[in-house]
This record gives sequence, structure tokens and C-alpha cells, in this order.
Amino acid sequence: WAIHAPYVAAINALKRERNATILAHNYMTPEIYHGIADVVGDSLQLAVEATRTSADVIVQCGVHFMAETSKILNPAKIVLMPDMQAGCSLAESITAEGVEQMRAKYPGAPVVSYVNTTAEVKAASDICCTSSNAVDIIRALDADTIIMTPDQYLAQNVAAQVPEKRIVWWEGSCIVHEQYTAQDIRDFREWNPDTRIITHPECPPEVVAESDFSGSTKGILDYVSAERPARAMLVTECSMASNISDAHPDVEFIGPCNMCPYMKKITLEKVLWSLHTMTTQIEVPSHIADKARLAVQRMIDLSA
Ligand code: 13P
Ligand code: SF4
Repeated sequence: WAIHAPYVAAINALKRERNATILAHNYMTPEIYHGIADVVGDSLQLAVEATRTSADVIVQCGVHFMAETSKILNPAKIVLMPDMQAGCSLAESITAEGVEQMRAKYPGAPVVSYVNTTAEVKAASDICCTSSNAVDIIRALDADTIIMTPDQYLAQNVAAQVPEKRIVWWEGSCIVHEQYTAQDIRDFREWNPDTRIITHPECPPEVVAESDFSGSTKGILDYVSAERPARAMLVTECSMASNISDAHPDVEFIGPCNMCPYMKKITLEKVLWSLHTMTTQIEVPSHIADKARLAVQRMIDLSA
């Protein structure tokens, strides 16, 4: 922590000067999560918080689609992205044309797009979802066939919980969660029989099927807080266990885990530079933002 202290102090001072708030995803490094964040959470919590903040400036400690979502919800505020290269394999897997191809293939079916998409894809969709509300949103839609983009595994995991609906999906995946295999989980359980295995629903369904619980990053935190298992393996991004371990000293978190190279592009140095120079400011053209806002707001309204 000593090497981080000067950055944390400088960022927190600049934050007050600029009337800025820092929204940080659960996958940020501990020095961001514990040192400078005003709000931490999963994708849904960050989107909801973006609608509530009275700050003039939002610094998004997360990936690009999260900053775009904040800007879509706050067109009059400045939204800063500390590193524009912080992308996402899911967001990069589909374009608005891809959404139109799916609509042509399944006429009349509503399109539910994961928030891990660009503003253009959100604008081409009927409603958004996150991993914490996907099942509720699919159940709430008055349609027999529903298109889910772009995460094939989230779609398959939701389909398993909502068998009464036909869910069709785009073939995207998260490079962090797709790496886990069911055999990995079976081996791990055999070697560590007393460990609670907790997966994120971006994992393939056969991996989720081997786990004790599956949920969004907030869902994972809530599960650990409620259950307080003696040992837990979080089948997700590495910072998740690091961030929640302080609050759960009685839980032993055991690896392995996978790192998201996009999330890890956000560092204290880049956040300080971003606030100092007020760069890079996210812009979303209003004709796209206005449509995308409808899809995001429908999701928030249904999640309330
Ligand atoms: P949640 O925090 O919504 O579970 O999303 C995880 C993720 O991979 C975000 O990029
Ligand atoms: Fe995208 Fe996966 Fe990284 Fe989240 S963890 S930003 S879904 S690549």
C-alpha cells in the first residue's frame, strides 16, 4: 500500500476539486477498489448509480462499454475513461449489423443485449440485461422466442432457468470465463473437497452445472457474505477474491483464477492522469445515445 499512497491521496484530492465520482467495477485492482472508488459494484449497480450521482464528472474504472453506459444515462455530464484500450471481448464480438442479422433470422423476436455491448448495439436492441437481472428480464418479456446477444454462455445459462421460452443467441464469449472447463472444476473439487465453488454465468453451462452457486459479481459477493464458507473458489476474474477477502477474513479464497487484460488496463497512474488532464472524455452521438438509453432504461425500470 505504501507505493500506492501518493497516488491515492492525489486522486482523492483532485476528485474533490473536480466534483468527480469514481465508479469502479468489482474486477478493479484492490488499490482502486479500496483506495479511490466512491461506488463499487457489478454492471447493474454501476449503471443504476450513474443515474443517481450529483457529481459533475464520472470517472469510470472499468471497461469502455461501462463508460459509454454512464454517458448514455448522463449526456450532460463529463464521463472520463482512463484508458480507451480497455475493451471487452463480448462488446467486440457484435455490431449493430449483427443484431439486424439476428432479427432477420428470427422475425418478431425481441433482442435482449447484455450491457457488455457498444452503444450502437444497445441502440439496435429492445432492452439490455446484466448477469444479475437476465433471468428476470427474459421472464418478463411477452414473447416465446427471444434473441440474446452477444454472450452465448449467459444465454445458455439463462435458457436452463427459463425452459418455457426459446432463447437463441449470438456466438460471443468472455475471454476470462470461457477458459474454465467442467473437468477443471471436477478436478478441483476432488482435490479440495470442502471448497464452495462459485461461478459467474459467463462461464460455459457445463462449468456452471458443476458449481455450488452461480451469479453476477454482486451475486457472488452476496452469496459469500450470507454463507461464509470456510473455503471458496471464485470461478471468475482474479480481483474479485482479492477485493472481497478483506471483508471476509474467515473465508479462505483459493485459486486458480483468470485475469481480464482489459480491466487490468486501468491503473492508479492512468486515473490520476485522466482527472488531471480531463481525458479521455466519452462521447456518444445523440441519435445513438437516445435509442440506447431506451434499452438501458427499460432494463433499469424492470430491475427496480
Ligand atoms: P457483472 O459484474 O455484472 O457480473 O459483470 C461481470 C463482467 O464480466 C463485467 O465485464
Ligand atoms: Fe469483457 Fe470478460 Fe473482461 Fe468482463 S471479464 S470486461 S466480460 S472480457
